[in-house]
Amino acid sequence: MNGEGSSIDFTGKVALVTGGGSGIGAATCRRLAAAGARVVVADCNAAQAEAVARDLSGATAIAVDVSDAAACEAMVETIRARYGRLDAAFNNAGITEVTALRGEPLPETHVLPLDVWRRVLAVDLDGVFHCLRAEIPLILATGGGAIVNTTSLQAHISYPRTAAYTAAKHGVLGLTRTVAKEYGDQGLRCNAVSPGVVDTPLTAGVIHAEEYRDMLLAPIPLKRFATPDDIAKAALWLLSDQSAYINGAVIAADGGYLA
Ligand SMILES: NC(=O)c1ccc[n+]([C@@H]2O[C@H](COP(=O)([O-])OP(=O)(O)OC[C@H]3O[C@@H](n4cnc5c(N)ncnc54)[C@H](O)[C@@H]3O)[C@@H](O)[C@H]2O)c1
Repeated sequence: MNGEGSSIDFTGKVALVTGGGSGIGAATCRRLAAAGARVVVADCNAAQAEAVARDLSGATAIAVDVSDAAACEAMVETIRARYGRLDAAFNNAGITEVTALRGEPLPETHVLPLDVWRRVLAVDLDGVFHCLRAEIPLILATGGGAIVNTTSLQAHISYPRTAAYTAAKHGVLGLTRTVAKEYGDQGLRCNAVSPGVVDTPLTAGVIHAEEYRDMLLAPIPLKRFATPDDIAKAALWLLSDQSAYINGAVIAADGGYLA
C-alpha cells in the first residue's frame, strides 16, 4: 500500500451543515473546510453561523430555522444558485426538552406539555425531514453524494423524562435507513452518527453539574465526555469517499456507552 487515495479530500465539493453555529456542527464545519470543502454554515442563530463562517476559507453562512419547510427549501435554493451543486449534507441542528422548557424541570411523559413535544419534534425530526427533501434533488442532480444525520444515544436507549427527544432521535434513525434504501442506486449514501455525551452548549448545564457528572460518566468505558471534534471526525468520515461502501449505517461515537 502506498497510501494513495487514503486521505479525506473535499476539494471542489460543497458541504452543508445545519446547526453549524455551535458545538458538533461548528467543529464539523471546521473539519470540512480544512479538508477543502466550500462549507455552508446554516443555523437559526445567524450571528453564530456568521462567526463560524468568517473564520473558514470559502465558507458562507445561511440563517435557517429547520422546523420551517419553506425556509429549508429556500436554503437549498440559495446553495443551488450560488454553487450549482451539493455534495455533502450534515443534518445536525437539534434541541432537547431542556431547550424547549427553558430551564423548567423535565416532566414525565403524561405531563409533558404539548407545545414542548411539538417543538422538539418540529426541530429534531421534522427538521431533518425538511432538509432531506430539499437536499436530495440537488445532490442527485450532480450524480450523488453523502448525507449524515445526527441521532443520539437516544436513538437506541432512553432516559426518563425525555419522551420527545427520544422519539425524535429514534425517528431520525428510521428516516436515515429509508433514504439509504431509496437513493443508493443513484449514488446517494445516507448514514447517521450517534453521539454519546458531548461537551457542548446543549449539555453544559447538565454534564458539569456535580449531581449528574459522575452518574453520566459511569457507563462510558473511555471515562470522559466527547469533545465536539470527536463527533466531527466521525461525521467527516461518513461524509467522505473514505466511507464509500457505508450506507444506511449508524456509527456510535459514544466512548463505548452502548457496548
Ligand atoms: N451534546 C450532546 O451530548 C449530544 C448527544 C447526542 C446528540 N446530540 C445532537 O447533536 C446535534 C448538535 O448538538 P450540539 O450538542 O452540538 O448542540 P449545540 O446547542 O451546541 O448546537 C446546536 C445548534 O443547532 C442550532 N439550532 C437549534 N435549533 C435550530 C433550528 N430550529 N434551526 C436551525 N438551527 C437550530 C443552534 O442554534 C445551535 O447552533 C443535535 O442534533 C443534538 O441532538 C448532542
